[in-house]
Amino acid sequence: MQKNPENDFFIISHRGASEYEPENTMSSFKKAIELGTHMIEFDVRMSLDRQLVVVHDKKVNRTTDGKGYVKDMTLDELRELDAGNGEKIPTMEEVISEFANKTKFVVELKEYNTEEKVLDIIRKYNVTKDVYIVSFYKRILKKIKYMEPELVTGLIKFFPSYIYKDCSYCNADVVAVFRSFINRKLVKKVEDKNLILFSWTVNKKDIGLKMKNIGVRGVVTNKPDLME
Ligand code: G3P
Ligand code: CA
Repeated sequence: MQKNPENDFFIISHRGASEYEPENTMSSFKKAIELGTHMIEFDVRMSLDRQLVVVHDKKVNRTTDGKGYVKDMTLDELRELDAGNGEKIPTMEEVISEFANKTKFVVELKEYNTEEKVLDIIRKYNVTKDVYIVSFYKRILKKIKYMEPELVTGLIKFFPSYIYKDCSYCNADVVAVFRSFINRKLVKKVEDKNLILFSWTVNKKDIGLKMKNIGVRGVVTNKPDLME
């Protein structure tokens, strides 16, 4: 895996530049790239007709003008919804095909049994080296690593407990911990285990600077221009 990324400190745009554009939409990803992000982060779920779509919640209620569960709607039905400013819910394939070679991707798998289809898209667009797969679910990451050992994977955690045990179980390369629990001691502990530490979600410059100074390797942020 890429233990020494070209950037010492990654700015990872959370659901795109979601502070400025509707989250997880093409306009949000475009904006993040315009603002110089290193990576775009997005969430993946599966529609009723087994298409991978980019949406955070189980339901479409909060982020669109529709109602109901993503898993109960076909791609055509999901595409009819307004995801903000007239944007549509993108498919994972659209995002990868549009932005491959323009940025790198942090792809969060929100559901089990999406792994094969996610890998199909990554292989189709030849972006294995440009994608980090992340999840709160260890079993998903274990399966991904088994199926595609070249892919960087990252375990998302709220609390910094059982980091080594859990990352060892699924062979994760990265651990992403909620910002409030990050300090120098944790940075050292994670480094000693040869893991990379990211922090989420950091939207204030002073906290971003602190993370960078103590050796955190990346922040997930709604504001790609956070550090300016
Ligand atoms: O990368 C961490 C972050 O994306 C996890 O939280 O709820 O925004 O998917 P959430
Ligand atoms: Ca996410």
